[in-house]
Amino acid sequence: MKIIQTINGIKKKIKKHQGQSIGFVPTMGYLHQGHLSLIEQSKKENDVTVVSIFVNPTQFGPDEDFNRYPRDLQRDEALLKELHVDLLFFPNSTEVYPSGYSTYVEVETMGKVLCGKSRPTHFRGVTTVVLKLFNIVNPTTAYFGQKDAQQAILLKHMTIDLNLDITIKVMPIVRDTDGLALSSRNAYLSTAEREAALYLPRALAKAKSQIEAGLKDASEIKTLIENELKKSPLITIDYVEVVTLDKLENFPKNQEGQTVDISMNNTLVAAAARVGKTRLIDNFILGEI
Ligand code: PAF
Repeated sequence: MKIIQTINGIKKKIKKHQGQSIGFVPTMGYLHQGHLSLIEQSKKENDVTVVSIFVNPTQFGPDEDFNRYPRDLQRDEALLKELHVDLLFFPNSTEVYPSGYSTYVEVETMGKVLCGKSRPTHFRGVTTVVLKLFNIVNPTTAYFGQKDAQQAILLKHMTIDLNLDITIKVMPIVRDTDGLALSSRNAYLSTAEREAALYLPRALAKAKSQIEAGLKDASEIKTLIENELKKSPLITIDYVEVVTLDKLENFPKNQEGQTVDISMNNTLVAAAARVGKTRLIDNFILGEI
């Protein structure tokens, strides 16, 4: 596996693969099985697999965890070598954002709901860096995890709006044996916090089984999840939302104006909560991103 730190360097390497399919997995490193599942999928479907590791400063707010975000290149490198990744792009901040950098791309409206409410500049940072990485790597297909469902939906939207010839594939959430969705940020959790964090997947699983048993009203689903999360004193809810999967909009009231029924093939049920200082997200979907 070649590690390349410059944009010119990676572009040169990619040019050698003209005519071949290129699978791309952008990451911020500190890799876990969720990332590895994306890489495995890319390896299955493409001639060449490129992974990037870049902790992107523009997607962190001023009071967020950019500086303490976990980093371990040696460990990541070993994992990527084991999977026979072809190229690792590992640029530094000034390579991606040279002095005077001033161009941003933003998916309006959908980037301002759910996580975008409490992280108002987050998705602008994500779409900007991913578009730059797409322009550098020129992939055929790019792979993202469903845990960051809103991110995947926005990126799909961006590729359509900007006429990019890139297929976005969204792979299922990978969970630990106790049900917690894998995330690099899980490393921040103390033992007690990790125990509390389990309320998140459990609340969502309860809502999902109630939906399977016939519950359809969006506000009842939301309340059920909120009540489950409130059982832990260590959890502070950021949001619980039940919205359409394609547009991240609230469902319209039904004819009697009493209930708001979800769609069985176009629904995102998503929650974000703080456990201590750590912000965690999780979701389930009815339908496909
Ligand atoms: O999901 C992530 O790790 C990041 O948001 C991404 C897509 C690599 C952009 O920095």
